[in-house]
Amino acid sequence: MTASITTLVTQTIKPRRMNFEFSDDIPMDWFAGDPFKSMVLTALSATFPDGERFFVDSVRQFQAGLPKELEREVRGFIGQEAHHGREHENFNDMMQRKGLPMDDIALFVKKGLGFMRKRLSPERQLAMTCALEHLTAVFAELALTEPDFFKPMDERMKPLWYWHAIEENEHKAVAFDVFQHQVGSYWIRSSQMALNTIEFFFFSGLHTYQLFKARGIQRDWAMHRRGFSEFFGRNPGWLRKMSGAYFAYYKPSFHPWQRDTSALMNHWKEVYQID
Ligand SMILES: [Fe+2]
Ligand SMILES: [Fe+2]
Repeated sequence: MTASITTLVTQTIKPRRMNFEFSDDIPMDWFAGDPFKSMVLTALSATFPDGERFFVDSVRQFQAGLPKELEREVRGFIGQEAHHGREHENFNDMMQRKGLPMDDIALFVKKGLGFMRKRLSPERQLAMTCALEHLTAVFAELALTEPDFFKPMDERMKPLWYWHAIEENEHKAVAFDVFQHQVGSYWIRSSQMALNTIEFFFFSGLHTYQLFKARGIQRDWAMHRRGFSEFFGRNPGWLRKMSGAYFAYYKPSFHPWQRDTSALMNHWKEVYQID
């Protein structure tokens, strides 16, 4: 079944080479001096290079026969994800030098995704990419709409995370449009989202735990309580705030550009001089 492409906003998807350097004097707790938030985002970063390679490969399998405009967007998407992987590898190396098991986590992710490549049909692999790209776009939207979220982050780390958030928003509809054009099954798209949401939280929790354990802080219950309440509690409840954006994906008529984040992106591009 082939559904029509419903792109509402067209963004130029421009791969940008950034060449960030991460100095070793950036503290281990680079996010607000808070081990919980710092390790949650560090664990995510460990999964990015292989995760993003999986996204690119899953889209590549459906590249033939796309309309010209979408084909161009796919090239932009591939370029952006390749640069994200490279920059996050630099950051991950810096955290590895501090004694965190970043390479072990990356190897685990690589093996897990190798299993998915063998077990899942190409359609399901693409739906998995759409699901994870939606989760990424929702987190990126959180970073762009709530300046207080990234505000207490070490200034040397902000350009990496803002740049990544901006580009994730720029290309948030690419895998989705490829899926709608080449597969178009609501059942595959929505069921894969439900599965990947569970997997995402399970494995993000596991990798964060591995980092806590390497530091010997896995039983710091006060830290866990504070962290959970910051993400899921009443105030500020960063992830709770984004639940509407997340659940919109399950509407049959959903399209990523129904949430127009262009103005937000332009604002942050100016702040970080990203052209
Ligand atoms: Fe990315
Ligand atoms: Fe992405």
